[in-house]
Amino acid sequence: MAGKPVLVQELDAVAPQESLAGRDLCSIADLTPGELAAILSLAHDVKQNPANYRWALDAKQMVMFFEKASLRTRLTFETAINTLGGAAMFVDQTQSPLGERESLADIARNVERWVSVIVLRTYAHDTITEMAQYASVPVINALSDLEHPCQAIADFMTLEERFGDLRGFNFTYVGDGNNVCHSLMLTAALLGAHCTVGTPKNYAPKADIVAQARAIANVTGSNITVVNDAVATVKGADAIYTDVCTSMGFEHEATKRAPIFKPWQVNEALMAHASPSAVFMHCLPAHRNAEVTDAVLDGPQSVVFDQAENRMHAQKALLLMLLGAGAKA
Ligand code: CP
Ligand code: NVA
Repeated sequence: MAGKPVLVQELDAVAPQESLAGRDLCSIADLTPGELAAILSLAHDVKQNPANYRWALDAKQMVMFFEKASLRTRLTFETAINTLGGAAMFVDQTQSPLGERESLADIARNVERWVSVIVLRTYAHDTITEMAQYASVPVINALSDLEHPCQAIADFMTLEERFGDLRGFNFTYVGDGNNVCHSLMLTAALLGAHCTVGTPKNYAPKADIVAQARAIANVTGSNITVVNDAVATVKGADAIYTDVCTSMGFEHEATKRAPIFKPWQVNEALMAHASPSAVFMHCLPAHRNAEVTDAVLDGPQSVVFDQAENRMHAQKALLLMLLGAGAKA
């Protein structure tokens, strides 16, 4: 068995259970490869043995401030903390962005007196990093315009369940180079999986995220590739992932984007270019027969509802680690 590259060993010098306690998760790249592997390993165990963790976060309080709509993220965070013995408080910020009524610093300095963890879904990524800077308790990114790290953890947990060790795995993403795409690229790199992203011109992932993913991939031994051709993207893929063409906050661009993204639809013809054992992935909500056809979304290769289920298990593991309860209760 090949040893880990030197830099990875250096990054992972401290045991994840110790190094993650009290930390924030603003970007998936806040984690070292070893820390991500530890969260994933705990997520699998939590899924298999939920009773072992039933009271691991007894009486811990979690607050969730959401500026955008949510089904999966809200409910999986709530079910996660509730089944670990803690409680969730949801604050709907869709009508007034965070920082409007009161500064982020003042919100942080109030909330940290009452709760053990803050979960944020925002437009501006800076809102999350600023809250993390001010708050003494962990802050978790539950989606910003830049990233969706909790989604990516659950997605790669889903792939590990199916395929085991993901080093050398051919992960592909087709569509908008958006928040979900950014976190998936970084996660693939952290786990040593190859990642090919195909987008229409002008909709590529951000250059600095691509550079960051490539820097991590250089250490973990994978390749990060960005192309502008749908078939070339998915040739021989082990997983094909797509997301909506128009993310929350970009609705005013929907009419312009629809024809641009039409040739990028994941349909049975595109799936045929992937490996026969390839899975289809989507973070959901899907716009049926826009970025993906019903036949693929509901077809035998689709794992979209496993991904949705795993949001809960992965976030239980994340909460356990960040709140310093990573070991079995
Ligand atoms: N995938 C995801 O984050 O779904 P929600 O927007 O419903 O939370
Ligand atoms: N990219 C999508 C993901 C939704 C879960 C959005 O930001 O709207």
